[in-house]
Formats: sequence, C-alpha cells, structure tokens
Amino acid sequence: MPLVRIGVLASGRGSNLQAIIAAIQARTIEASIAVVISNNQHSVALDRARHHGLEGVYIDPRACAQEPDPHQAYDRKILQVLEKFDVQLVTLAGYMKIVTPALIQAYQWRMMNIHPSLLPAFPRLNAQKQAMEWGAKISGCTVHFVTEGVDEGPIIIQASVPIQEEDTVETLSARILEQEHRVYPQAIQLFAEGKLSVEGRRVRIIDPGPN
Ligand code: GAR
Repeated sequence: MPLVRIGVLASGRGSNLQAIIAAIQARTIEASIAVVISNNQHSVALDRARHHGLEGVYIDPRACAQEPDPHQAYDRKILQVLEKFDVQLVTLAGYMKIVTPALIQAYQWRMMNIHPSLLPAFPRLNAQKQAMEWGAKISGCTVHFVTEGVDEGPIIIQASVPIQEEDTVETLSARILEQEHRVYPQAIQLFAEGKLSVEGRRVRIIDPGPN
C-alpha cells in the first residue's frame, strides 16, 4: 500500500508535528509527510521539518494583504502547495489561522485539526485557560475533521484529562499535550487505514481493533 501523503500546517512550537514524525519513524502510522507549511517564518515547526529533511514552506501572509480577500488569497497559495506536493491528508497542528471555505471544501473529510479541550466545550483560543476558569473537573483534547464552523467538525478521537486542584494553565496544558501526541497519530493511522466514515455529525470508526 502506498503511504498516505500528509501536509502539516503549523504556526508555532510544532510538538504535534514532532509526534507525527516520531510515529512515522516508529512505523506506527503508514504515512509520510509530503510538506510542512507555516504562516510563521520563525516557527519551530519549520525548523523541525527541515531538521528531519522534510520540505518546509513558509507562505508570507503579507504577500496577500492587498488582495480583495486576503484570507482567501492566502489559502489559494496553500492549496497550490498542497497540490504541488500531492497531499492527500491535511493535518492542522497548532495552526493559528482561520482556514477559508474553498480550502476546506478541497479537502473535505481529508483535513483534521487537534484542539486542547473536549469539544464542543472551550473552542477557539486559550482552551486550557477557559476550562480552568470555568471550573471544569475534566478537560482533554479532540481530533476532529475541519468544517467551516471553527472547532465544530465531526469528532474523530478524544482523550480526557482530569483537572487537579493544584493545576496551573501550564501544568494542565502539558498533560493535555501528552494526550495530543498520543491521539493525533492514532487518528492519522485510522485515516490511512480507511477506517473513518463520516455520517452526519458522527465519525464511525470501522473495525477499531484493540485499544
Ligand atoms: C496544541 O496544544 C494544539 O492543540 C493547540 O495549539 C497547540 C500547538 O502546539 N491548537 C489550538 O489551540 C487550535 N485551536 P504544538 O505547536 O506544540 O503542536
């Protein structure tokens, strides 16, 4: 079976990218990273990509600033790169930019995001801080397909993380991140095996196997 070609979109530290790279190296996922794209020239994610000999592409958002719709124009550039590298699955990994409809439609049910809460609770920014301030006792992370509603797409996998009395945003974020690094590769592997089927809001996992 040919490996699924992944495009990773990342803006920052890139620890989820690193977890995907590690899972590929350990052969726990049958995929290859075709390209890493960033909107941040100085992202650690791009450094990590290049360190591992992967294609790392920076697309400067300022290049689209004069366009009638800068976000759409930016995503057209992203799409060109994804097509150039023959990407089959797009994974957002700490990609802190809204993705516009044309790009989402081009990759319908082939674009995933990871979010540091149990969605639909605490969408958008600072999810861990939101959970703590709400007084939640359990939070976690969610891998979901990307749809036009931000953080609203059908859920593929979630992992829960108890919030402890002594937690700070940093300690909670670190424990959630451990789970992110575990479940994101799992979701990618389920995709690679053709085991994800979207039915309305639900993602059915066909033959999930032992876990
Ligand atoms: C992760 O915690 C990810 O869930 C979050 O950003 C962090 C990126 O870390 N994403 C979002 O909040 C998206 N709404 P990383 O760059 O080390 O992978």
